[in-house]
Amino acid sequence: MIGRLNHVAIAVPDMEAAVAVYRDTLGAHVSQAVPQPDHGVMTVFVELPNTKIEFLEPLGADSPIAKFLERNPSGGIHHLCYEVEDIIAARDELKAAGARVLGDGEPKIGAHGKPVLFLHPKDFLGTLTELEQV
Ligand code: CO
Repeated sequence: MIGRLNHVAIAVPDMEAAVAVYRDTLGAHVSQAVPQPDHGVMTVFVELPNTKIEFLEPLGADSPIAKFLERNPSGGIHHLCYEVEDIIAARDELKAAGARVLGDGEPKIGAHGKPVLFLHPKDFLGTLTELEQV
């Protein structure tokens, strides 16, 4: 069902500092910051040859990553995103297998303009897991 690793998301308390680490220390290509008000985050993508790293910084008062950063004040890996060909078919198959889909279970348009869903971390080895239809 799952295909390529699309991105690893890291929640960061300070986007500028995060960008400096990846751009200046690690020498990676880093995108401009893009606000995602619908998702309550500011995003930056680090383009690597085989995948991407997504930095998430809280945006607005009730950002979904605010609690995560309270527990992980210096930041940390927030989720993994795998590509699927058909997100509805993947969702239905996972639900039939007993996995929990977060929210109302309907795909939302994610940071790349593609449909995404999140799966409950307790069903996936303690890791918040995103599916993106490509
Ligand atoms: Co993501």
